[in-house]
Amino acid sequence: MADHKIKTIGVLTSGGDAPGMNAAIRAVVRRGRGRGLRTMGVYRGYEGLINGEIRELEAKDVSDIIGRGGTILYTARSADMRTDAGQEKAVEMCRKFGIEGLVVIGGDGSFAGAQKLAERGINVVGVPGTIDLDIACTEYTIGFDTAVNTAIEAIDKVRDTSASHERVSIIEVMGRNAGYIALWAGIGSGSENILLPEKYDYDEQQVINNVISTRRKGKKHHIIINAEGIGHSTSMARRIEAATGIGTRATILGHMQRGGRPTGRDRMMATMMGARAVDLLIEGKSQRVVAWKKGELVDYDIHEALSMQKDLDPYEYEISRALSYNYSKI
Ligand code: F6P
Repeated sequence: MADHKIKTIGVLTSGGDAPGMNAAIRAVVRRGRGRGLRTMGVYRGYEGLINGEIRELEAKDVSDIIGRGGTILYTARSADMRTDAGQEKAVEMCRKFGIEGLVVIGGDGSFAGAQKLAERGINVVGVPGTIDLDIACTEYTIGFDTAVNTAIEAIDKVRDTSASHERVSIIEVMGRNAGYIALWAGIGSGSENILLPEKYDYDEQQVINNVISTRRKGKKHHIIINAEGIGHSTSMARRIEAATGIGTRATILGHMQRGGRPTGRDRMMATMMGARAVDLLIEGKSQRVVAWKKGELVDYDIHEALSMQKDLDPYEYEISRALSYNYSKI
């Protein structure tokens, strides 16, 4: 590809949507046009690629979207893309629409699809877009910042009523397999317990003891952040109320965390990552994933990126516990 000047690229969003995806799409289209490329918008993720739901995006098509949540390209979780037939069809469509490089904005599952296309000879660049922050090669993913802010705003509101009624509140945040939203929202809201899929040992008695102990210390409310991966917040609330005699309510924040206007950070980072993806394709670098590491935009080979592992930051976890009424020496 190095000595061939590409003329047409494609862009799609895949998996769960995330605030800031539109800013990334805008950057891909406008950076592409600025550097002499046509950009094809692929609708509904890989489903749309397989079905040929593709049309050219002009600069004006991405006007006024930088501050909008969701994705103007729509998104899907594609079962067909996991099959040979689906992948072959996707490649066929790239050829049919003249797509010489494809920017895939999504999470690990979306990158796995991109990896399959790469193995079949399509030039791809991944841009990390997921509220979960669970992509190992990067310290930033599009949408995480907005989702955490949304969760914190909601937790603050629940705390007001929880304190007035001197109740315990369990607030369930998104994250099936990853506790980053729970950890950040828990620290950012000063919550008493943060239950993380990576750490929780299902010792509910420990949580109950914490509730009793904070109440004895005079705390009027007790906020428990529970990650979706642990779940069962409503039944947990019933059990805690029965064991402690303290009114306990569960609030499941759900998909509201995926929506809303992206924060300034998400707009900025999504813009830079989208633009970088286009620059990489123009430079003849494909099969890459754009990432943020130690305060810099970098890129990794897609196979390497998908083989990386990451865990919660141990110091963040330690501090979440150290500052909580339960574990501190306060
Ligand atoms: O990956 C983003 C995410 O919002 C996760 O936090 C959550 O577990 C999942 O998507 C929910 O997916 P769906 O919208 O398909 O139910």
